[in-house]
Amino acid sequence: MQITLEQVSPKEYEGNVVFLYGNEVADRNLPLTKKEIEYLKERRSADAYSIVAFDRMPYHLFVVNFDAYTPANENLEKIRRSADKVVAMLKEVKQDSVGITGEGTIPEEVVAFLEGMMLADYSFDRYKSKTPAHVEHVVVDPVYLKQEELDRSLRLWNRIYWCREWVNLPVADLNAAGFASELEDIAKDLQVKCTVFDKKKIESLRMGGLLGVNKGSVDEPRFVVLEYHPADAINVKPVALVGKGVMYDTGGLNIKPDDYMREMKSDMAGAATMASVLFAAADNHLPVHLVALLPMTDNRPGFNAYAADDVLTMYDGTTVEVVNTDAEGRLILADAIAYAVANYSPELVIDAATLTGAAVRAVGTYGIVAMQQKAENPFNLLKIMGNQVYERIAELPFWNEYDELIKSDVADIKNCGIAQAGAITAGKFLAHFAKTTPYIHLDIAGVAFFSKKQEYYASGASGYGIRLLYSFLQTYEVTQNK
Ligand code: BES
Ligand code: ZN
Ligand code: ZN
Repeated sequence: MQITLEQVSPKEYEGNVVFLYGNEVADRNLPLTKKEIEYLKERRSADAYSIVAFDRMPYHLFVVNFDAYTPANENLEKIRRSADKVVAMLKEVKQDSVGITGEGTIPEEVVAFLEGMMLADYSFDRYKSKTPAHVEHVVVDPVYLKQEELDRSLRLWNRIYWCREWVNLPVADLNAAGFASELEDIAKDLQVKCTVFDKKKIESLRMGGLLGVNKGSVDEPRFVVLEYHPADAINVKPVALVGKGVMYDTGGLNIKPDDYMREMKSDMAGAATMASVLFAAADNHLPVHLVALLPMTDNRPGFNAYAADDVLTMYDGTTVEVVNTDAEGRLILADAIAYAVANYSPELVIDAATLTGAAVRAVGTYGIVAMQQKAENPFNLLKIMGNQVYERIAELPFWNEYDELIKSDVADIKNCGIAQAGAITAGKFLAHFAKTTPYIHLDIAGVAFFSKKQEYYASGASGYGIRLLYSFLQTYEVTQNK
């Protein structure tokens, strides 16, 4: 989808038009008869967010209603959802271009509409013999935004696009080595330093979690470090972004039964999300010092696969009793978090991981399950930004009692607790490795990959969390006035 800035006046424009109608004074600019305006008003009063389509052969006029008095974040989200509907309506009438204008409309609303269109127009086409229809060309009236602002948004949306591509790719076409080298290629074109550790290096670092999970695989693991350190950074010590990169999760010897294995190509969404966030920050020169730590391997029951009862020694020396080989994400993340803390002294560690089915059961597919340790201020900012961009956060308790559930008889801790509070004990396991560093854990298991279409997300990878973390970093400065 291409977006260009050109004047769009609904009465003269030769093409399909979207008219964002937020405000009553807008009528006079609409190419509608009195009767049509009456009809429009009826529809508006019945449903403030209705979309009214007028057939203007060979084109269509879509009046996208909204209520400017709805709280801003909800209004913007409803506008994104309307954009999804308009994308579907355009495809229905086999049109691939549209001009966008409105009246009583502010730039944020236009950007939200464009964002909704961008997200909604995505589909994973790589294996389709015949490429599905897309909206090819969107023209936006330049009264709403400048080229530079549009470009900044486009760069962010491009990162979301690539995150979705990576997550949708099956492991047969994207293993740890392949993913690492893709990231290396992207970093070359940006002000980002990329270091890739191969198996030998990972062995020399004694990352027992990553190596343990990798034991059943024919594919080597990778550990990727991305660093973005702009000269004008507002923070001296970096923010560390840690992402779960399980390229495929079979469960290992505790193999996933029935169809529980399906969609587990998405188990590297955390790594894809964190790489995308760091790249977007670099694309748009955000003044924040960042480092991303991305452990990558698949989890398989082959060869000499690690087994329940094994004891692994992690990067920081902590010993871990393996109780279930399907709780693998926390093992590779533990090494990454410990490595971040020991080598970068970050002021904040955030991880993103498709970590637990328990998180999905807790809030479904409507938000991220999150926990924090010693990170109240940045966590509050993250919550606020979550509501703003509508990638929301549900906080779970992190009481000391939960620590008891992961104590082990044979090692320091074990990799899973009891059947209850599974998302929390997973978070507690990770928090052990953050030690005293402020730490935020994001369990994205419910939102990284949708089994069926949800609002403006097609089925498959969503890129959920990138807009959240990007907007968090954009406003990160407010946490610096300590
Ligand atoms: N990758 C899964 C979690 C998951 C489940 C992500 C569903 C997305 C959708 C993770 O590695 C896992 O298998 N977790 C286990 C942990 C258990 C063995 C303690 C789970 O949640 O069942
Ligand atoms: Zn698992
Ligand atoms: Zn997993």
